[in-house]
Amino acid sequence: MSTLFEPVTLGAVALPHRVVMAPLTRMRATPPGDTASELSREYYVQRASAGLIVSEGTQVSTWGKGYMDTPGIHTLEQVAAWREVTDAVHAAGGRIAAQLWHVGRVSHESFHDGEPPVSASALPYRNRTTVRGEDGRPQRVNCPTPQALTARGIAQTVEDYRRATVNAREAGFDLVEIHAAHGYLLHQFLSPVSNHRDDAYGGSVENRERLTLEVVDAVTDAWSADRVGIRVSPVGKFNGLEDLGGGEAGLHLAGELARRDLAYLHLSEPDWAGGPALDDDFRARLRAAFPGPIIGAGAYTAEKAERLLGAGLIDAVAFGRAFIANPDLPARLRSGGPFNEPDPATFYGGGAEGYVDYPALG
Ligand code: FNR
Repeated sequence: MSTLFEPVTLGAVALPHRVVMAPLTRMRATPPGDTASELSREYYVQRASAGLIVSEGTQVSTWGKGYMDTPGIHTLEQVAAWREVTDAVHAAGGRIAAQLWHVGRVSHESFHDGEPPVSASALPYRNRTTVRGEDGRPQRVNCPTPQALTARGIAQTVEDYRRATVNAREAGFDLVEIHAAHGYLLHQFLSPVSNHRDDAYGGSVENRERLTLEVVDAVTDAWSADRVGIRVSPVGKFNGLEDLGGGEAGLHLAGELARRDLAYLHLSEPDWAGGPALDDDFRARLRAAFPGPIIGAGAYTAEKAERLLGAGLIDAVAFGRAFIANPDLPARLRSGGPFNEPDPATFYGGGAEGYVDYPALG
């Protein structure tokens, strides 16, 4: 039986407890270079008591960008800006992973010199993203029909993840987390809903997994398997990708990942985003398929966390919105509260308000 406040080891990184900060896009990077801002350094340092911080989604290339003011990890300037953040988090006693992100079709032509974003297939797509409006403020817009990645584009994408991993290491991160969840590029290849390809990257479950596994292999090759985690959300509805039957494919992928000895598998559960709650039968099958560390995330309470840790179905828990509002969340969970309430109006974009001004306990 393990509990939230016991230590755990994720690959090469030892955590003093099991309360992880989930990856949270906050759209406060500095334009035009999409560098992590000084304010974000303060934000992450405030949250350094997390067992592990997983950074906000961080694009591996310009094609990987889909929202205004999200940070990247593909230029020297971006690496230098992240170095300031990781050094400060380490000085405050914390650990931080870089979430490597490619949004695929959840994007807009204004980020790509007028060209449509890339995806597995050129399927019409109903979802929205956020660009900078004429007044400089965030504006919600429809995502256009994407273009299908060519074989060359796929090879370049794998290379972009490799380069981003070298950069993340150089920037002082402790781990990288490959974002293969939430309807973004890797998920667009994994799901038959968004992947209608008839080449080696489409059709069978093995073919649909191919890009994700090529990325995993390139990233582990660029660093080391014990420095690499991956986030998946096989079941649910995310960003206009509705795949309620993704469970079996998710278990198959987990089996492939298990053979690669990764630092962890991060399971994003669907119920926080309007999908059905996962049941323990699925969790048990996932645990059997992936014997390494599993982080659970999505609408967790302390109670749900302790129950699933105690049952041995997960090894750590990532909290998202609670960490936005409670910089010292581990201390608050330990004492049973009180908890500040998050304000969704300041989740995305803006400045210090709703970002670095939530109070810690006296
Ligand atoms: C998210 N989430 C998310 N997930 C991810 O993998 N990468 C990301 O960049 C983001 N960004 C993001 C921003 C905001 C404002 C929210 C609310 C959520 C999902 C997040 O990591 C987490 O899985 C969910 O918030 C569910 O957990 P909670 O909030 O119920 O603990």
